[in-house]
Amino acid sequence: MGMNRSEIVALLRSDEQHSEKLFELSGAIRQQHIGNVVHLRGLIELSNVCAKDCLYCGIRKGAEGVDRYNLTDEQVIQAAKYAYENRYGSIAIQSGELTTASNANRIEDLLHQIKSISNGELGVTLSLGEQPFEVYQRWREAGADRYLLRIETSNKDLYRAIHPSDNLHSFDRRIEALHNLKECGYQLGTGVMIGLYGQTIDMLADDLLFFKEMDIDMCGMGAYLENKYSLLQASEYTLQQRFDLTLKMVATLRLMMPNINIAATTSLQAIDPLGREKALRVGANVIMPNITPTSVRKNYKLYDNKPISEDCLDIQDRSLFERINDAGFEIGFSQQGNSKHYGDKQTKKNK
Ligand code: 5AD
Repeated sequence: MGMNRSEIVALLRSDEQHSEKLFELSGAIRQQHIGNVVHLRGLIELSNVCAKDCLYCGIRKGAEGVDRYNLTDEQVIQAAKYAYENRYGSIAIQSGELTTASNANRIEDLLHQIKSISNGELGVTLSLGEQPFEVYQRWREAGADRYLLRIETSNKDLYRAIHPSDNLHSFDRRIEALHNLKECGYQLGTGVMIGLYGQTIDMLADDLLFFKEMDIDMCGMGAYLENKYSLLQASEYTLQQRFDLTLKMVATLRLMMPNINIAATTSLQAIDPLGREKALRVGANVIMPNITPTSVRKNYKLYDNKPISEDCLDIQDRSLFERINDAGFEIGFSQQGNSKHYGDKQTKKNK
């Protein structure tokens, strides 16, 4: 559905009664274009070592109290095997940003191993930050299907306000990275944080228009949440406001881009234990259960109160799957759950 800025702003500002209508519509559009299925991405938090110092992030380089870790290859492969054997269909590998040659080689090697232990069946999303074009290319050739790189905010001034002002944290380079990912043939995902200090509803509307303009295939949006290392001013929005706004962003994006993949993000669960299920109802269709070894999870704290389960994976899965079913959805076991939007574009290209 094509929408202009003032229409989007009106939806984002809608009161409780009107947002219920919006949610009904976005839920119906999700059913129509995606169906009743929820796809899983087993999230492997590979390492919290990061060369960047993004002011909002709980694992930024300058966060000195953070205990840094890097999973072993064996731990990564074990997690991937768990996902494969439990019919997740896909995994997502995320870490702090490292651009060394040895890291690029390591990821390439891991990708080959993951494809081989899963007979090429496990879909792989990478979320490893800004990398040289050639590295994106090598990882794509090694089997990565999708890449997530949040723009964080599409407003250049706000972007500058939430990052150190140096070449490593350049808005223009981030945009360039998104274009490079697309050129390499990835299913492209991006997203923003919602409720940053100084962020207006108009800016959030522009974020949605940015996604449309970039013609993205996937999106992950989450509430900004404070953490003890954050150098940002506290949000002007209450947690409830950030939560409501995030749901409205998900719903509005679903109207604008009916066949992309939209994640129900963990930050919503941090505010409301049923936050992710609520996001599914208003249009999200992907969940990323954490399958990182429990011993290091406490060290990948992007924000305070990040839900960290100490349960073994079987128990964690059982309760999550039950809640997804209770919310009225079915889980797309053993399906990669690729972006329909991407698939449609490929079909058109090949005609
Ligand atoms: N609150 C919410 N989300 C955050 N992220 C980083 N720090 C925070 C925070 N304090 C998000 C960023 C990043 C993703 C991996 O986590 O959007 O892209």
